[in-house]
Amino acid sequence: MVKILLVGNGAREHAIADTLARSTHQPKIYAAAGERNPGILRICQKTGGEIILGKPTDPKFVAQTAQKYSVDFVFIGPEEPQFMGVADEVENMGIPCIGAKKAPSEIEMSKAFMRRLMWKYKIPGRLRFMAFKNVEDAIAYINEYAESIALKPARQAGGKGVKVIADLQAYLQQEKAEVKRKHAHDIYEKHMQPYTDIEDRILIEQKVEGPEYTLQCFTDGKTIKPLPLVQDNKNAYNMDIGPETGGMGSIGGPGLTLPFINEEEYKQSVSIVENVVRAIDKELGEPYRGVIAGQMMLTALWGPTIIEFYSRFGDPEAVNVLPILESDLVDVSEAIISGKLGKINLKFRDTATVVKCIAPRGYPDRRDLARGHPLYVDEAAIEKRGCRVFYGSVGLQDGEMITGGARAVEILAEAESIPEASEIAESCIDFVKLKDDWKLFHRSDIGGETLLEKRIELAQLIREIYNYRREKDLVGRQVDWIPLRGRIEYQA
Ligand SMILES: Nc1ncnc2c1ncn2[C@@H]1O[C@H](COP(=O)(O)OP(=O)(O)O)[C@@H](O)[C@H]1O
Ligand SMILES: [Mg+2]
Repeated sequence: MVKILLVGNGAREHAIADTLARSTHQPKIYAAAGERNPGILRICQKTGGEIILGKPTDPKFVAQTAQKYSVDFVFIGPEEPQFMGVADEVENMGIPCIGAKKAPSEIEMSKAFMRRLMWKYKIPGRLRFMAFKNVEDAIAYINEYAESIALKPARQAGGKGVKVIADLQAYLQQEKAEVKRKHAHDIYEKHMQPYTDIEDRILIEQKVEGPEYTLQCFTDGKTIKPLPLVQDNKNAYNMDIGPETGGMGSIGGPGLTLPFINEEEYKQSVSIVENVVRAIDKELGEPYRGVIAGQMMLTALWGPTIIEFYSRFGDPEAVNVLPILESDLVDVSEAIISGKLGKINLKFRDTATVVKCIAPRGYPDRRDLARGHPLYVDEAAIEKRGCRVFYGSVGLQDGEMITGGARAVEILAEAESIPEASEIAESCIDFVKLKDDWKLFHRSDIGGETLLEKRIELAQLIREIYNYRREKDLVGRQVDWIPLRGRIEYQA
């Protein structure tokens, strides 16, 4: 009898638990969780396991729980437990773990480490960057160079604090510089303030443009096995308007690619992630075991380009791919642990998927308003339409489902095409309600024809420029001309 301890309590973890539970090994599933997620709880109970409440980021709590229930392995869902060394503590107790250890998880935790690694190993898809340990140096740089940049916290800061600034209109240069200076201060004093685990504070990257997508992969440190591509949609409201969220919904398929990413671009993306896994191995001398994902953009500079890495599945992206995995996730996990992932043949149902996230109003800026509402979900009606429900930021309190302030529910629909799947998902939205008079919201445009066309058009435009640059042997090459200084070339 296989026993597994899952770490985390969101919709991504609900999808992981669900996929593990489908295994022919019929595992008992336990969860080390911060909340009693109704979906995870049901799976634990059905398989003979249970939820153990505690802090998923606390290495001692997770390792002791794993030991107490003598599980065969631990599966970590979110990134923060990895950054805190949960995998290290679990493995120290002699229990295998799916999930990056502290050192390799730096590929996500430190965007500065990631950029340095990509330059050191000359991996395609890298961007010019500057990392600063203090705000004065960042501001001195901003004052000297008028450029279009992405200004970021140097650490993964829960999806907050990134500002992308197009600095094209010369007459606005002073105003733009003021915005950049102010934001550099905000990053230093606000977004990076809670974090002492890396030295770099502020990251400045060149700004690029193009459609974004996520490539999630399993790896045992040697072999990587890519999953189908997914595109997440970060803005809160329709037509990519509104504040950045953790993701309001995502599309995938049919097949391994997306309608706006071709076979060759998919292969190039896989090769970039593969190169990075090798580089981590060389740099740290220990294999990366678990899930790694490239958050990518198709750009004119490189074609497939890295925006950031995840050391885990994306949420909602996990919900597009795990439910259509036909291979046995327990077998995959055991192959990762024994370093034999090369022997696994990953199979997916050939279908298009759309995930729609539903959140209480207030998310993401006023989570205090989004929190504490009783939730009702007509699962039978949703399943009757062929869709599935995954619970996110929801906890069970005295038998009642109470919202936690972020995305409460994710609905997965499958069909032959993305727009068809989107329509089916839309037909389920009204089956999710709050029992008080507070309102929920979601994005009705995700997966629809209009938004999909917009992505396809942007990709075509970018692809034309990229192909032209490729003909001229200019891929990855950039030249700046700085008055009174001359020419600076950034070599591929
Ligand atoms: N160098 C860049 N050029 C253009 N846009 C960028 C760049 N870096 C980030 N972005 C945009 O900002 C978003 C957030 O940046 P990201 O590095 O993914 O941070 P996080 O997801 O941790 O907030 C990206 O999804 C992308 O849309
Ligand atoms: Mg991101």
